Amino acid sequence: MFMNFRRIRKCQCVQLLTTCLVLCVVMVCWDELDHQVVSHVRSYTYRYLVNSYDFLNSSFSLSSSRHNRREGYYDADGGLENYPYLINHPGKCGGAGGEGRGRDDVLLLLFVKSSPQNFERRQAIRDTWGNESFVWSELGASVRLLFALGVHPDARWRSRMQRALLQEDQNYGDLIQQNFLDTFHNLTSKLVLQFHWGHEYCRQARFFMTADDDIFVHMPNLVKYLRQLLSSQSVAKGLWVGHVHRGSPPIRRKESKYHVPHELYPWPSYPDYTAGAGYVVSGDVAAKIYHATLLLNSSMYIDDVFMGICAEAMGVSPQEHMYFSGEGKTPYHPCIYNHMITSHGHATDVRSLWQAATDPSVSGNSEGLLNNIYCTAVRVSLLCLPYYQKTYPCKAAFT
Ligand SMILES: *[C@@H]1O[C@H](CO)[C@@H](O)[C@H](O)[C@H]1NC(C)=O
Ligand SMILES: *[C@@H]1O[C@H](CO)[C@@H](O)[C@H](O)[C@H]1NC(C)=O
Ligand SMILES: *[C@@H]1O[C@H](CO)[C@@H](O)[C@H](O)[C@H]1NC(C)=O
Ligand SMILES: *[C@@H]1O[C@H](CO)[C@@H](O)[C@H](O)[C@H]1NC(C)=O
Repeated sequence: MFMNFRRIRKCQCVQLLTTCLVLCVVMVCWDELDHQVVSHVRSYTYRYLVNSYDFLNSSFSLSSSRHNRREGYYDADGGLENYPYLINHPGKCGGAGGEGRGRDDVLLLLFVKSSPQNFERRQAIRDTWGNESFVWSELGASVRLLFALGVHPDARWRSRMQRALLQEDQNYGDLIQQNFLDTFHNLTSKLVLQFHWGHEYCRQARFFMTADDDIFVHMPNLVKYLRQLLSSQSVAKGLWVGHVHRGSPPIRRKESKYHVPHELYPWPSYPDYTAGAGYVVSGDVAAKIYHATLLLNSSMYIDDVFMGICAEAMGVSPQEHMYFSGEGKTPYHPCIYNHMITSHGHATDVRSLWQAATDPSVSGNSEGLLNNIYCTAVRVSLLCLPYYQKTYPCKAAFT
């Protein structure tokens, strides 16, 4: 009896100790756990149960005195900043510099977000998927490619860098630069630059795309897709397509690049938005976003999220396309090349991928039942098995 009692006490002791240990571990890892689990649960709950982002309208709208101000004003924090152009090409989309490529029929205005020092990335894009002449001669589509830039953030490098940029622009005439520091936290200014330039100089473009300078765009597939959209007019309106993030929580960990403080965004969940790596909007949506940038506080420095806020305020929602990638890099295989639109993380292999993905034998080989079965099997093995890094969702294998 006495022994039993002591054993129970011992058991309880062990239990207590274990509980303490677990609690300690939880407390030590709380930040991680909070980020991984709690904030996602809260965010998804909000997104899928409440799903009302009406607060964005009022919380982000600028006070009415600011509404009436027109283009070209400055504001230190959050008001629309329209920095002056340092390099510009007003005629690029038509006008005098249109080179007779059908000035009024621009299928796509394509902005690549670049940084002053990324000369090589820009050159690789010009030589491959951004080659306007190739798209015109091989696909018969009129595309305008421009690079959006700020100025080099380091004052010691700036003037040398600027001279090199002017030289580069003399050769290619495709840089658009405004006078803001080209930093991560100024990406929203870069977004505003793109929509304002488009509104001012290229309103006739049917579609507008914005992309990172380390992505790969399968231009033939993209042009084909956009033409399909155009052929059924109803679909080509109100379009915003890309890799959609639904119900993403703001990241509160201070160490993260994407950290957003409570004061800036107190709510548990962002509105839906597409990954900034590359997305397409139709001309009417581009105009709406332009107007939203005039009405809303642009202090949200994550540009994709700011785009989501603008779209939400204008009643536009994004749609998913399985072959627009978010973070991931495409698996290299002809059975993928037939479908892919964008792929992320190609700083160095753009040229080889372009060679492989646009090889005439790739599209030539895609017919026939046997080939279809073979390609589906290959895609299942590349996209659905867990060992491969995710780019496109598993269901993309069955298209
Ligand atoms: C924009 O929002 C930020 C952060 O919420 C705030 O500090 C700033 O004053 C706002 N700017 C304007 C012009 O309303
Ligand atoms: C761009 O495409 C045209 C037409 O296909 C081709 O002649 C030209 O060499 C290409 N330019 C580059 C830099 O590859
Ligand atoms: C953004 O650019 C402006 C203008 O050059 C600069 O004053 C500001 O410090 C930059 N902001 C960040 C966060 O780099
Ligand atoms: C407010 O948001 C809704 C969609 O949530 C939108 O339809 C409406 O036009 C917005 N109003 C203003 C004034 O921005």
